[in-house]
Amino acid sequence: KNTIATRIMKNTLPKFLLFLAIASFGTAVAQKQQAIPEVEALLKKMTLEEKIGQLNLLTPGGGVATGSVVSKNVEEKIKAGNVGGLFGVSGPDKIRQAQEIAVKKTRLGIPLLIGSDIIHGYKTTFPTPLGLSSSWDMNLIEQTAQIAAKEATADGINWNFSPMVDIARDPRWGRIAEGAGEDPYLGSQVAKAMVRGYQQKDLTNEATMIATVKHFALYGASEGGRDYNTTDMSRVRMFNEYLPPYKAAIDAGAESVMSSFNDVDGVPASGNKWLLTDLLRDKWGFEGFVVSDYTSVNEMIAHGMGDLQAVSALSINAGLDMDMVGEGFLTTLKKSVDEGKVSEETITQACRRILVAKYKLGLFKDPYKYSDSKRPKRDILTDANKKLAREAARKSFVLFKNENNTLPLSKTAKIALVGPLADSKNNMLGTWAPTGDPQLSVSILEGLKNVAPNTQITYAKGANISNDTSFAKKVNVFGPRLEISEESPEALLAEALKAAENADVIVAVVGEASEMSGEAASRTDISIPESQKVLIRELAKTGKPVVLALMSGRPLVITEELDLPVSILQIWHPGIEAGNAVADVLFGDYNPSGKLTATWPRNVGQIPIYHSEKNTGRPAPSEAFEKFKSQYLDAPNAPLLAFGFGLSYTTFDYNNLQVNKKEIAQGEAIEVRVDVTNTGAYDGTEIVQLYLHDVVRSLTPPIRTLKGFENVFLKKGETKTVVLTLEADDLKFYNGSLDFVAEAGEFEIFVGGDSNASLKETFTLN
Ligand code: BGC
Repeated sequence: KNTIATRIMKNTLPKFLLFLAIASFGTAVAQKQQAIPEVEALLKKMTLEEKIGQLNLLTPGGGVATGSVVSKNVEEKIKAGNVGGLFGVSGPDKIRQAQEIAVKKTRLGIPLLIGSDIIHGYKTTFPTPLGLSSSWDMNLIEQTAQIAAKEATADGINWNFSPMVDIARDPRWGRIAEGAGEDPYLGSQVAKAMVRGYQQKDLTNEATMIATVKHFALYGASEGGRDYNTTDMSRVRMFNEYLPPYKAAIDAGAESVMSSFNDVDGVPASGNKWLLTDLLRDKWGFEGFVVSDYTSVNEMIAHGMGDLQAVSALSINAGLDMDMVGEGFLTTLKKSVDEGKVSEETITQACRRILVAKYKLGLFKDPYKYSDSKRPKRDILTDANKKLAREAARKSFVLFKNENNTLPLSKTAKIALVGPLADSKNNMLGTWAPTGDPQLSVSILEGLKNVAPNTQITYAKGANISNDTSFAKKVNVFGPRLEISEESPEALLAEALKAAENADVIVAVVGEASEMSGEAASRTDISIPESQKVLIRELAKTGKPVVLALMSGRPLVITEELDLPVSILQIWHPGIEAGNAVADVLFGDYNPSGKLTATWPRNVGQIPIYHSEKNTGRPAPSEAFEKFKSQYLDAPNAPLLAFGFGLSYTTFDYNNLQVNKKEIAQGEAIEVRVDVTNTGAYDGTEIVQLYLHDVVRSLTPPIRTLKGFENVFLKKGETKTVVLTLEADDLKFYNGSLDFVAEAGEFEIFVGGDSNASLKETFTLN
């Protein structure tokens, strides 16, 4: 008879045995992977103090400071065995000196990790990451990361604090500029491409470096868009919308993770055991090392988590391995071990992870591997690298509006080039480019002259970026970005209008200075500053064709400007080849193909805003206002510019959307086909996008969410059939128990050139 007891035995015994097998296999794997004999032998020789020393990351200053404190007495600390790594130093000779101190002057001679923030290129600066993501070109993004690694390693660096993969849906947050925008699917592809680019297949290769996925986690959801602020969200939102890019980077092999400044569920990330151990290591199987953000361990004191000893113990026990700049680990961990608050085994484990990284880089074999003084000249700022920077920049631009087909411009047109960013080198690299030299960048004025030497260009500044001196001071902490002219705003404007008088077309380069976005650069008003708005209005009134080349690190509110009779090309901060790339696009040598990766709101009140929103129980009517529906009294729900949007000098038509099966089984992929035709007068590239809607599921589904894309080049008149594959995993989501599942039922797909795509098909998952 099948008693309850036997039934339980039958059901659970095999599972239990399986569990035991997996558990012991798991430990075996972990032990096997951890047990690098050289590392284990070294660990045996190390004192507790020496192990703690390896967990200490310092920045000696001298380079560009990326935080508010700089480390002191670094050389003595290295000699004392109190340093595991440095950042903010570069150059093969300097790095050789540092390694020599570590290798020759310490008891055990352990080489240093040498870190740096190479966010969008090293010396060859590429567009800011939000711009780069607008290319939707993963090969290109991977290549930019590869070049960044080649240049940085030539200069002695072996560890990169990139990719930044924080999902951001609040453009008030200045650091939206550093990531790939709002979408977890696209963000995951970009994260993988960047890790591949930095690490490639072999970390022992001298041109590769360790990638750090940051900022773990949820930093982009800082409340109110104010930097470093609290984040709080449900687990299902976390798993479905914010965590995928970090996981993708880890699955792609990123060797290091940086914990974020913000708290998650009330515990700052750097001391959050659920995040750093339960999720990152136990669930995701991450085996590399975790570094804190800049003094983020110490900052837990201000968060209200206790004194330096308490927060340091909290962090190491949570799974943080390395302490950036704050020296809480160095100064308190020994005491915590003595008092039984931290076990020596915990410290050994953290130290092991850092030594493994050094081993994987090949530093034990050759500590001077990144100290070849011949490399900088050979590898940095080469023509090939700059060529890639130019290509990356022009692919990042997004055309918002082409009034009366003003663009492309003729190479013999008389141009009035105006605006505070038209003749500025300082703002071309964009935020978080501390290793680049702005003076090497090509200004827009120079670029137009390079590409069209026969055009007649009259330049006038026309306006200050802002007339507000106290605002300017905050933006200029890293040097002059927002310079206010001696001349009055009226005089500047008069000059621009004068320049416009004889011109066939006005090109106005306007927008944000580079440091108006980025870290600690949150804004509550994300419109173009009033000083420039005045200029734009007056230019529009001249009746001449006006092209705005709009620069920003974030989505702006440009509701007024979009309504004016002007053309608008969004150019972000384009990097070292800025002017050349802008000229390529304005004159039609490259047909713009970028598409937005973050939604542009009509006004700040619509924030947070993103394409993959859910329905409410009371959806807004498509027209006219209705009481008791989910909408605003004073603005539509729809954004100003949708996710995925971007125009071209040509036009594209979509037809014949088909799925290869109307019904599929669990685990099956589905093929989606669509014919795309270039119906306009120019050859061009279109980014074909696929959105999915799970009609009924156990957790409210997004109305549509990106699940595929492809860049296709089409000659004018040409048609191509584009095939996009929805993999089985693309139908899955994290359900209420956080299981990753696909639920049976109907799915709708939409294919087109932006997130409003209307061509629709359906299929059923059985
Ligand atoms: C930033 C990190 C960066 C670190 C080191 C911090 O302020 O949040 O993104 O990697 O500084 O420069």
